[in-house]
Amino acid sequence: MINLKIIIASTRPGRKGPAIANWFYDIAVKHTEFNVELIDLADVNLPFLDEPEHPRFQRYQHQHTKDWSAKIASGDAFVIVTSEYNYGFPATIKNAIDYLFKEWNYKAVSFVSYGGVSGGTRAVQMLKAVITAVSMMPISDAVHIPAFTKHLDENGKFINDPGLDKSADMVLNELYKWAVALKTMRE
Ligand SMILES: Cc1cc2nc3c(=O)[nH]c(=O)nc-3n(C[C@H](O)[C@H](O)[C@H](O)COP(=O)(O)O)c2cc1C
Repeated sequence: MINLKIIIASTRPGRKGPAIANWFYDIAVKHTEFNVELIDLADVNLPFLDEPEHPRFQRYQHQHTKDWSAKIASGDAFVIVTSEYNYGFPATIKNAIDYLFKEWNYKAVSFVSYGGVSGGTRAVQMLKAVITAVSMMPISDAVHIPAFTKHLDENGKFINDPGLDKSADMVLNELYKWAVALKTMRE
């Protein structure tokens, strides 16, 4: 089995990220090849990077870093669910990435993004540059949701859409292939 971690990048009160992430999570758990965990950066609640040493040494001084390290070390593949803030990704996901190094190395990652006309694609393009610096493998398949509020009902719950469900499945299939290959490589 592949350990898949779905990370919710946005943390602001009233955010829509969890609605999108819960939709993707439900599809991922139906995929028989993955153990799935939903990670909410609002719960992880990391302060701005406060470790004195480069993370490649893994000489972490703070318990929050040790906990974050253990969570990410156990992942084989990741899906980052991200909004777009001012044409970029939320600072919270950059901070969470910067905390660690080896824990991310040689692991596959895809994205679920949402926004206005861009569907969060600008945020994802920027994020790809960052994640390659920690030697992650960004796969080309991703789900981008433009005008995403159309996909939320009056309670803020995601309204299923067969097209988007199919895109999510394609991402999971592709992510699985890369995750298996990279797991072998890490071993
Ligand atoms: C600070 C800020 C900047 C934003 N910038 C963009 C943007 O550049 N592109 C976009 O499509 N939407 C932008 N939006 C609108 C977001 O797509 C929308 O608020 C979305 O709900 C944000 O995700 P969240 O609810 O998970 O925080 C912005 C929202 C905020 C709060």
